[in-house]
Amino acid sequence: MKNTMAKIGIFYGSTTGYTADAASRIAQALGVDMADVHDVANTAPSTLGDYDVIILGASTWGSGEMQDNMTDFLDGAEQLYLKGKKVAVFGVGDEAHGDTFCAAVGQIYRRMLKTEAEMIAPFNADGYDITDSQAKVDGRWVGLVLDETNHPDLTAPRIAAWASEIATSL
Ligand SMILES: Cc1cc2nc3c(=O)[nH]c(=O)nc-3n(C[C@H](O)[C@H](O)[C@H](O)COP(=O)(O)O)c2cc1C
Repeated sequence: MKNTMAKIGIFYGSTTGYTADAASRIAQALGVDMADVHDVANTAPSTLGDYDVIILGASTWGSGEMQDNMTDFLDGAEQLYLKGKKVAVFGVGDEAHGDTFCAAVGQIYRRMLKTEAEMIAPFNADGYDITDSQAKVDGRWVGLVLDETNHPDLTAPRIAAWASEIATSL
């Protein structure tokens, strides 16, 4: 059933600002107040409990490693029992890193499965240079994957398409 009153919270981990910027743009696309957009560097994982729909995003560093602040946040988040809530995942990466492109998105997805939340909003778009990544399950992206280094022009249409995907899942 469509729940137009669902409270949406966006949580991001960002080292150089790209994922923070994407979080703001996703909030704008979904009509989410900036007060409900949280930098996980200074947010308690229990804050997830305040929301019906949880959008989690992080960048990928090292060679396919989670952004540092999100690593700490997930240590607490994955222990919560979130059955009945919906979780969507996004990230910003760089396709030049090949099959570690947006690996963090796949890692968030897998860790949040433990909470028994319903995972929503996979992303089926074309236009990516690489085909294999931890962020893909059964051939499709588990969430929104952005590349501000090589394809900044595609970010706006990708966010718009993904926001529609989330809206249909509410
Ligand atoms: C040392 C280094 C390692 C990186 N490793 C990856 C990687 O494995 N996969 C990926 O998709 N992007 C990788 N990136 C690209 C970043 O994820 C990308 O620049 C992202 O936009 C940073 O987002 P943030 O500013 O929100 O932290 C790497 C960048 C640097 C500088």
